[in-house]
Amino acid sequence: MDTTTSQPAEPAATGIPLASESRIPEPLGPLQLVEYPHPALLRPARRLVRIDDAVCEAVEQMFEIMYESVGIGLAANQVALPYRLFIVNLEAHCDAGEELVFINPSLSRPRGTAVQEEGCLSLPGLRMDVRRPERVVIDAWSLDGTPIHLDLDGMLARVVQHEFDHLEGRLFTDRLPEAAALEARRSLETFREVFEGQQSRGELPASKSLLARLDRLEADRCAGPNAHA
Ligand code: NI
Repeated sequence: MDTTTSQPAEPAATGIPLASESRIPEPLGPLQLVEYPHPALLRPARRLVRIDDAVCEAVEQMFEIMYESVGIGLAANQVALPYRLFIVNLEAHCDAGEELVFINPSLSRPRGTAVQEEGCLSLPGLRMDVRRPERVVIDAWSLDGTPIHLDLDGMLARVVQHEFDHLEGRLFTDRLPEAAALEARRSLETFREVFEGQQSRGELPASKSLLARLDRLEADRCAGPNAHA
């Protein structure tokens, strides 16, 4: 019997990560808005290397969630998806304005300074003045793979910077001057107590299992472990 021709190729020799490819992908939905200090909000999101139907459906759900909450921007990690993707509609309504999707964005050429009050769907009820560059350039991809290159100002520049911060694991409370930061810290402590209370009552999974799900979602659609953008 000739065994040499019937032997399957060694998986290791193919260079393809068979273990993750053969795993059934983690379901993305149904999506829910998450609040501070959900771990998805506190670590940098990862670059998407695979945009499949599930991602497109997730983006549709993100718009629905954003409109329900009357928001004008929403980052993927605000619905516990650890991907570098955010959406914007300055009119906060499905029948008005323009629906923008930014995938794997980068910001450059910050110019000027503007102070404006901001709020965040992941920190409901908290609103504070935030200083940011007045203008900024964004490069990104749309959902259909079209490159985006925009020089932004006004509200769109502000929202894009707020959402980009989310992808970096930052919240607007990380950008406050000292006195305002102290004030915000008290609110953040209250959010933390509420979140941990929900976990202790079993209304939310423990942080360990929330993190494990983020890891599986990254394994499904992001590059290797050192591919942080
Ligand atoms: Ni926000």
